[in-house]
Amino acid sequence: MSHNAARTPRTNDLAHRIEAGFRDALIAAMGDSASSTDPSIKVAANPKFGDFQANFAMGLAKTLGKNPREVAQQVVDHAPQFLRDICEPFEIAGPGFVNIRLRPDAIAAALTAMDHPSLGVSDAHRTHSVAVDLCGVNVAKQMHVGHLRATIIGDTIARLYERLGWKVFRQNHLGDWGLPIAMTLAAVRRAKTDINRVTLDDLNTAYRNAQMQGRDDEAGLTAARATGVGPHRIAELEAQHEGASAALRDAHDTLRRLQSGDPAVVADWQKLIDVTMREVYETAHVLGVDLKPEHNRGESFFRDRLSPAVEEFVQANLAVRDDGALVVRFADRERPLLIQKSDGTSLYATTDLAAARYRVQDLGAELVVYCVDARQRDHFRDVFDAVRLIGWTTRADNSQASLVHVPFGAVLGADKRPLKTRSGENFTLKALLDEAVARGRHEVRSRAAVPDAPTSGMSSAELDAIGEAVGIAAIKYADLSSDVGRDYVFDLDRMVSFEGDTGPYAQYAHARICGILAKAGENGATSPIVIGALEERALALNLLRYPGAIEDAAAQLAPNRLAAFIYELANTFNAFYQSCPVLRGVDDATRHSRLRLCDLTRRVLADALSIMAITAPARM
Ligand code: ARG
Repeated sequence: MSHNAARTPRTNDLAHRIEAGFRDALIAAMGDSASSTDPSIKVAANPKFGDFQANFAMGLAKTLGKNPREVAQQVVDHAPQFLRDICEPFEIAGPGFVNIRLRPDAIAAALTAMDHPSLGVSDAHRTHSVAVDLCGVNVAKQMHVGHLRATIIGDTIARLYERLGWKVFRQNHLGDWGLPIAMTLAAVRRAKTDINRVTLDDLNTAYRNAQMQGRDDEAGLTAARATGVGPHRIAELEAQHEGASAALRDAHDTLRRLQSGDPAVVADWQKLIDVTMREVYETAHVLGVDLKPEHNRGESFFRDRLSPAVEEFVQANLAVRDDGALVVRFADRERPLLIQKSDGTSLYATTDLAAARYRVQDLGAELVVYCVDARQRDHFRDVFDAVRLIGWTTRADNSQASLVHVPFGAVLGADKRPLKTRSGENFTLKALLDEAVARGRHEVRSRAAVPDAPTSGMSSAELDAIGEAVGIAAIKYADLSSDVGRDYVFDLDRMVSFEGDTGPYAQYAHARICGILAKAGENGATSPIVIGALEERALALNLLRYPGAIEDAAAQLAPNRLAAFIYELANTFNAFYQSCPVLRGVDDATRHSRLRLCDLTRRVLADALSIMAITAPARM
């Protein structure tokens, strides 16, 4: 799902230079007809045969009716000088593969160029802008684990684009308008609760009760009549039902007063929002997520844009009456999009139509990314199609903005069912984070108890801070490293482990390098880089892939691709450190060069982790 790869200028790294070189060689050897031939450059599976492989010859030979090895040779003979400058002489292998090995001095030169605060990542995309819909909590409701995903996936995608220099608009599409919140508001006002003292827990309960009342009583009444329980029970239920409809009437009344701007109701409503958001900001802070009041563009923000939006659909003949309601129909499916109910009120979808228009036409975003639960797939498909039908994806310069839903999967418990507490309740996000922090601290403390540990002797406060970083990294990395659309099992034991594809493993690789550099008392600074050993070369090539990995993760809207890069870099580093002595037993030039490689690795790891807003402690 590459949504905007074409718009993203690619970094001019070695892999891209090789590809460009082979494109030139193909045309030089075969003429313009080869201009559309893909050189098909892949990272070599086995470093014994080279660093990359070009696989164009077999397909091309077939269309030309020629021998693939001869075709490969002919192309290689036309390689431009800039390609020869960075590669060892090419080798034709097997049925016509071209094995490509970079010259060590070319690798060293590329690394030297990368050794810069930018780490080779180009931020030359300043004219581009993206809006990221993230978090999307509902007022008066506790954040649960689904909001974890909407928040951290959104934040990481935002950071990926920020790293590339894009203008990023974080949009927190709060559920802060409409009947559900009016129900809670009415219940709280009825109960004469001191709204200045109310907690999110109280609100959560009020919300749930308000939601349940109407539904349950009506269902219970029907069931009671059908099963013929005694007249007493029915009378009791009827009385309750009366109460429920009175509550519902009250909610509608409260909504009307809220919508017409009744100052007392509006003031109370604002307080509910404040109580909710206080906790949201606290949680965002623990998660390291950049989420502030200025990112709030809740449903209420669009309240005055709903009627005009509906009106435009009517004017354009795109909305038609259906049983008193207004719907948008699509040519390719039965399901219409309901944009106004028969009582004249608007819906969740109406707000999203107005929000999409705002993001493209007011903010000027060329890409709008929605980090929302996969269960809303149909909703976004309909909304996006409706927005395209009416032409609101058209930007000021007449280009078309892309609207993309990043549908994330569910977080499951060990029983492979949606994560619940033992008593069957939804886990609040707060409870989950508290547990992760406790586990992280436990892990760090038990390691610090080992006499030679880098952390032994640190103060309790210092260990707690590291433990918190480890616990949060554990759950964030586990989430971000899994394929966004897939469900995953929440397994804290696995997530917090220092072994395997985990956050703590990546953090530990970083801390280990910090330890090496501290021991050396220097970081190789500007010493010449020399690439010799196989593991040294593998590490270098991995480092050079960093800018491409960021671009790729951004273009694919796939934080897991960044995680895969981090894991591989940590692995290659560990392999390097195992076979290439750094501190002892090497000549000065090698030691300096290797220290510089260590330092570069440390900085790339820290930078990549920072894109996931994961802290990288210097000691663990
Ligand atoms: N508040 C919504 C929910 O909890 C999520 C909002 C997602 N964003 C949007 N533009 N619809 O389901």
